[in-house]
Amino acid sequence: LDNGLSLTPTMGWLHWERFMCNIDCDSDPHNCISENLYMQMANVMVTEGWKEAGYEYICIDDCWSSHQRDAQGLLQADPKRFPSGIKKLADYVHSKGLMLGIYADLGTETCGGFPGSLGYYDIDAQTFADWGVDLLKFDGCYMKWNLLGEGYTNMSIALNKTGRSIVYSCEWPLYEWPYHQPDYHALRKVCNHWRNSVDVEDSWASVKNILEWTADHQNIIVPVAGPGGWNDPDMLVIGNFGLSHDQQESQMALWAIMASPLLMSNDLRDICPRAKELLQNRHIISISQDPLGKQGYRTAKVNNFEVWERPLTGGQLALAVMNKYEAGGPRHFPLTLATLPSWKICTPECNVTQILPSYKELGVHTLFSQLVVAINPSGTALLSITPMKVE
Ligand code: GLA
Repeated sequence: LDNGLSLTPTMGWLHWERFMCNIDCDSDPHNCISENLYMQMANVMVTEGWKEAGYEYICIDDCWSSHQRDAQGLLQADPKRFPSGIKKLADYVHSKGLMLGIYADLGTETCGGFPGSLGYYDIDAQTFADWGVDLLKFDGCYMKWNLLGEGYTNMSIALNKTGRSIVYSCEWPLYEWPYHQPDYHALRKVCNHWRNSVDVEDSWASVKNILEWTADHQNIIVPVAGPGGWNDPDMLVIGNFGLSHDQQESQMALWAIMASPLLMSNDLRDICPRAKELLQNRHIISISQDPLGKQGYRTAKVNNFEVWERPLTGGQLALAVMNKYEAGGPRHFPLTLATLPSWKICTPECNVTQILPSYKELGVHTLFSQLVVAINPSGTALLSITPMKVE
């Protein structure tokens, strides 16, 4: 979507995977969906280096609203859990130099059973703008699939009419795929990012499944990604319970290669130092945020390794090698630059840097010199490859 926003993949935090639809503030006040949760996340975003690393949007997902619209037909936050209201929350988040995201649904109800926006697109867009909201995640539950295009387009127009800069995050293709191959050129015009595949869960099986879906459809989805419009493989679940550290490194590396929005869903108030260091790794973030905005893709599947590459500005290349074999110890991947589809950038030589599993300058390599990287089971080696200029 050409609204000047998301020129690089959106970075921030989104409550859904970690906090889901927990509305029980009586017995679980620390984790329920309430204004406190977002205020606390905003505080930590600033004090713990997240904002400085580039994470900017604090996003509310489903289950924030009251079960009824107000007397004027406007959406309203649940008064018990958001006693100050969303406008105050947005002011607070803005006072920290951050942005606020919110969630709605184009059908009759949200996926969690709260009021949907069907018949209210202009009104709801205006409400969000009046509140000072900076991002809308617009879900697609409870809507006929053949009306998705119209619905997503109309909300895009409604947001634009408010005059406020609002990042527009869609789930249109996810709901259309079961019936019809989505028109990616159309949705790139309408949305800033779009979910293609199932909801991420806190497990390696889930992350692998999303990667597999993406690689299987890369010929369709990769060419349309670029500044202002991104494929969204869903949230980062790094820092939770289900992924080993190697698997967390794989998710971070591959989300950067895929030019995905980096929306963490975890508890930033209580996150282990290794997960934090990984999520704030500036070398990986700079691959994610590369201004050329080309999405990477899988280039090889060999001997239980997967090789992915992403072209970067300045003729550079990011390369990820994932060890898909889930037994044994670290396995060595023998790499010669000559075997890469992009080998030409290394004529005559390239400078190679290893970013994961640890930062290491691997020096200057010719097309045929041997590079050996050791990769743990379900882990990933992430490299950046820079052409050497001939003087
Ligand atoms: C759908 C979306 C999720 C989340 C839930 C909320 O499943 O895909 O990302 O927003 O709805 O109910």
